[in-house]
Order: sequence, then C-alpha cells, then structure tokens
Amino acid sequence: MSAIEIQGLCPLKGEVWIQGSKNAALPMAAAAILNRGTTVLKNVPGIQDIRCMIQILTSLGCRCSFEGNVLTVQAESLSRVAIPRTYGTAMRSSIVLLGALLGRCGEAATYYPGGCSIGSRPINLHIHGLKCLGARISELGDEKLTARADRRLRGARVNLPFPSVGATENVLLAAVLARGTTVIIGAAMEPEIGQLCRFLNSMGAKVSGIGTGVLKVEGVSELHDTEFSVEGDRIVAGTYLSCVMTAGGRAVLRGVNGGELKEVLRVFASMGAVLETGDRQIDIAMKGRPVKCDVVTGPYPEFPTDLQSLMLAVLAVSEGTGSVRETVFEERFAAAEELKKMGACIDVQNDTAWVTGRYPLTGTGVTATDLRGGAAMAAAGLAAEGITEISECGHIFRGYEDICRDLEGLGARIRRKE
Ligand code: UD1
Repeated sequence: MSAIEIQGLCPLKGEVWIQGSKNAALPMAAAAILNRGTTVLKNVPGIQDIRCMIQILTSLGCRCSFEGNVLTVQAESLSRVAIPRTYGTAMRSSIVLLGALLGRCGEAATYYPGGCSIGSRPINLHIHGLKCLGARISELGDEKLTARADRRLRGARVNLPFPSVGATENVLLAAVLARGTTVIIGAAMEPEIGQLCRFLNSMGAKVSGIGTGVLKVEGVSELHDTEFSVEGDRIVAGTYLSCVMTAGGRAVLRGVNGGELKEVLRVFASMGAVLETGDRQIDIAMKGRPVKCDVVTGPYPEFPTDLQSLMLAVLAVSEGTGSVRETVFEERFAAAEELKKMGACIDVQNDTAWVTGRYPLTGTGVTATDLRGGAAMAAAGLAAEGITEISECGHIFRGYEDICRDLEGLGARIRRKE
C-alpha cells in the first residue's frame, strides 16, 4: 500500500520530460504478436499497465525484454491463445489482444477486461467489429470470451456507431492480416490511433485514412520486423499543465506534441495561462488564480475525458463557478467526492459537475479513486494549505512512471510513502 504526501502552496518552476504514451504503447505491444519476428518499441513508459501487457505476452509464449524504456517482443514462439484470467481482468487493454490473436492464430480466449472503474465499459462494439470480419465469438459463463475464425479473417465494412478507441484498435489489429479490404467507418480519431496505424504500416501493413474517421486496411499476408518510437503522452502532459494551473508558476514540458492538446491549451489559455508550443515542447506560465470556464468532454479532438478529473481540480481553485459536462464515461465523477474532502465546492447533477472555486484548498487524507482521479488529487494538493496524503496510489502508478519524480523536478514538495 503506497501513498503520496504533498506539502502544498509552492509554485512550480522547471522542466519535465513527458513519458511515452500509455494508450499508444499498449495496443502496439499487443500488435507485436502479428509479426512472427522481432518488434522493438522505444520510449515505452515504465508503468504497471505495460508490465501487465508484458506478462500477458510472455504467458502466450512470446519472449519479451524491457530495459531503459525499450520493449522488445519476439513473437515467433507464440504458442498459446488464452489470456490468463489474472492478467486479462487487470487492465482494459487486454481486450485488444482478441483482434491480434485472431489475426495471427485464428482463435483467442480472454475474460472481460478490467481497468479503471469509470462507468460501464461494455465491449459490444469490439465484438460487433470482429464479427463483421468473420469471427465467431462466444460469451461463456464466468465472464469468459472465446473467438474463432476459419483460417483467415476476411475484410469487411465495419460501422462503429460510436468512435470507440478500443474497438477501433481491435478491428485494426484483426484487419491487417485479413484477406481483402476492411473499411472502418466512424473510427476513433484519437492521436494514439494514428500512431498505431503508422506503427502497423512500419511493419508492412497497409492502413490509409490516418487521422480521419474512415480507416481503410488492405490485408497483407505477413508483417516484418520494425523499430518504432512511441510519442509523448498527451494526457500526462495535460496532467502537469493542470498542476501548473492549480499551483501557479511556469514549466516547460518536453517530448510532447502540443498539436494533440489544442482544445486543452485553448481552455487553459481562456482561464489565464500563457502558453507557447514549439517543436515537441509546451511552455506554460500561470500567475494568480485561474478564471472559471465551462468544459464538455468528448471524443478527440474535443476535451479529453481523461483530463476531466484534473479539470475539476483546476476549477476547484478557480475564481467563479465553472462546469464540466462528461459525455464519454457516465460515472467518472468519483474524484469530486475526494476533492470535496479538501474543501472544494462541487455539485454533481447527472452528467455535469458545477464547481465554485476557492483558494487555497485544505490538505487532508484523500484516496486515488482511479488513475486520472488520483492525479487530480496531486494537482489539488499543490494548491492546498498543509499536507495532502493520497492513499491507494497503485491506480496512479498504472499510468505514471514516477509522478513524484516529475513534480519534484518542477519544484513541488512531494514524496512517496510506502
Ligand atoms: C480508451 C482509453 C481511455 C480513454 C478512452 C476515451 C486506452 C487503454 N484507454 O479507453 O484512457 O478514457 O479511450 O478516450 O486507450 N463503449 C461501448 N461499447 C464498446 C466500447 C466502448 O459502449 O464496445 C463506450 C464506453 O462505454 C464509453 C465510450 O464508448 O462510454 C468510450 O469508450 P472507448 O473509446 O472504447 O474507450 P476505451 O478504449 O475503453
């Protein structure tokens, strides 16, 4: 059981390197099994979810090494198609192995995936997409799923009624080795999908329409070895921008593409931040309290749901009453209850949280409710008088390499307690 302790009211100043993207690296690691040779991924974050993915790949028979943010997957020895329950249920991304295993072996078995408790996270769109490509999927008791295809999957038109990130990835991974052409209509446009497509193309896949809502995949019979570098994590960058918003001060974020955070930068600028983007760099300066704003989350390029709880923390110290409407995950307001323990004035009504800011907040004991909710407690703790102790930090370590190292580098008084 580890906890994080923060002594608040210390403005930030410094530079931070942004770790590689979790949500890009995870499906790439899963896609590595489509190549019967060796795949090298660079700038992979050293986080719990990646370690869990490595355990799954190893349990399937792959040989993996992960050193200094370089993940090497040798998948020629893949010999099993069933994902063990302990790993499958430990994180959401295990589900994209369904498409990858179907593509490589024509069969797969897994369990309903785990991940953060942020509302119902059905997989009907994943199943629909894979069925369009000819997979037969059985949902057995005990939350087990099995999938089978006759030799090779066949390309098809797949309509996604909602641009689900995971379902788009699953269909992509299933389609690259399928016979014929697949067109995904209503595909998610998150930058991590674009990265995944470029990675697949670097292995010899033929994916076009990258960056749009219509992806075309011309199936190929085999892929080849590749080396690919994962981009900086826009959500981790958004987290540290939020920390500068609550604590005040200035910071330079390196290794991240500001173009992927346009809506977030627009919102923070409207709240009073001075922002500049350069080549893989974002500079932020924040003086005084932020001014309130109203934000609605949505699929990319709208405001990311993954920064919703951080936005609550920023609004909790802003001047005036602002709001956040959550349109992607309906139960994602758990962080609001924890922020209230620090004196935040938040009123949640259906899909909208109304927040009246006050400054400073009051340091106290809070819990990391989920990955980003936990990070939001750190952002709030920076603007709280006294000490904030965040417990159940395991959630945070699933997605942040070392949030204490990064914030300490920016001048925060923060430490990890075992
Ligand atoms: C991914 C990200 C997560 C982010 C989310 C939205 C990863 C590992 N996780 O999650 O950090 O918050 O995108 O940007 O990349 N839905 C269905 N049926 C499905 C699939 C999804 O109804 O089969 C619904 C979900 O309940 C949710 C919405 O679609 O309301 C978005 O989910 P989705 O885009 O699939 O998110 P994930 O891929 O789970």
